[in-house]
Amino acid sequence: MQTIIVTGGAGYIGSHTIIELINQTTYDVISIDNFSNSTPQTFDRIETITGKRIRNLNVDICNLEALEFAISSVKSPILGIIHFAAFKAVGDSVLNPLSYYHNNLESLVNMLKICKLKNIQNFIFSSSCSVYGNVDQLPVTEETPFAPAESPYAHTKQIGEEILNDVVLSGAKMKVAALRYFNPIGAHATGLIGELPLGVPNNLIPFVTQAAAGIRSHLTVFGSDYPTPDGTCLRDYIHVVDLAEAHVLALKFLFGIKEPSYYDVFNIGTGNANSVKEVIDTFERVNKIKVPNVIGERRQGDIPTLWADVKKAKNILLWEAKLSLEQSLMDAWRWQSKLNTARVIEKI
Ligand code: NAD
Ligand code: WQD
Repeated sequence: MQTIIVTGGAGYIGSHTIIELINQTTYDVISIDNFSNSTPQTFDRIETITGKRIRNLNVDICNLEALEFAISSVKSPILGIIHFAAFKAVGDSVLNPLSYYHNNLESLVNMLKICKLKNIQNFIFSSSCSVYGNVDQLPVTEETPFAPAESPYAHTKQIGEEILNDVVLSGAKMKVAALRYFNPIGAHATGLIGELPLGVPNNLIPFVTQAAAGIRSHLTVFGSDYPTPDGTCLRDYIHVVDLAEAHVLALKFLFGIKEPSYYDVFNIGTGNANSVKEVIDTFERVNKIKVPNVIGERRQGDIPTLWADVKKAKNILLWEAKLSLEQSLMDAWRWQSKLNTARVIEKI
């Protein structure tokens, strides 16, 4: 049995990817997660959905000694790593830059040391559309040069990609794909797993669902005077299950590459741009529930418009998004509706 290691497997995107790996491949999947932004119950829910119990190594990836010890317990050959584990809250990264540089970069470096130690050749990195910064050229292609990072978080993703490229350029026998996700939203169709923001959500969709559920009094739309058709920002919202599938196809693609050293980057989005107002209107229409909202000031660091050119992923990874914005927003609401409200409120 060959193993795929998924770091951050209890997290939002990692948990959905584990389900797709179980459904679409025969690999043994092992997670590494210290639950710094998730809970162990995710693995119970994955088991309910798939019938498989995922083994998790509960270790801080930044602790190399503990990581090496944990990995030494994996006896089957490790075919590849999908590295999700990182801190992701943009605003928090502005307030606590060192914890982001430490966690996001040290964890990446340590996973690469593990690759060297154990001769693991296939590696997928969670990058982000935020690497592009405030660009003029839209939609962004993988060739669009980076503008300066808008936050320490975005900077960790720019540096992460550079680290990977440098490692491959140094001649390491590694095949690496950095996937630049646009705005992941939605949840598994069962409503059993989804995004679990701890505290006040930063991202739009968790705020929309919590406002609709009455957990928040209202959603504030950050700015309605942008140079866009309805004055609110445009983004490329991608269903998390489509995103999860991109990882399975990216792994298969890497396995097929004959060159011993390879590095490339791929935009993972839908290629569509939707405004904040469109998201609210669509959510209300498909779920038949109101989202109390007010127009507020622009949020610092927000760029007016960002969406992906997705031709490269389609042509090379043979992947494209299939699920609609409507589906994403129905799935997000199902997840919110099924959440144990008491447990979530406890953490707010
Ligand atoms: P998440 O916070 O839900 O999941 C990350 C998981 O990693 C969590 O379960 C957390 O406990 C774990 N983790 C973090 N640091 C760790 C460490 N040092 N050791 C062990 N475990 C650790 O985040 P997500 O939304 O699933 O994002 C996954 C990846 O995708 C991240 O790298 C993120 O930066 C990237 N990304 C996310 C988005 C998004 O909007 N969700 C967009 C673009 C890129
Ligand atoms: C979307 C739109 C807000 C909340 C972030 C990261 C990016 C990537 C994806 C990790 C924007 C508006 C939001 C609210 C609002 N993540 N909004 N009211 O900022 O596009 O991207 O997540 O890599 O790096 O920056 O996502 O969900 O925060 O915002 O009006 O309460 O919703 O202004 O236009 P963003 P978001």
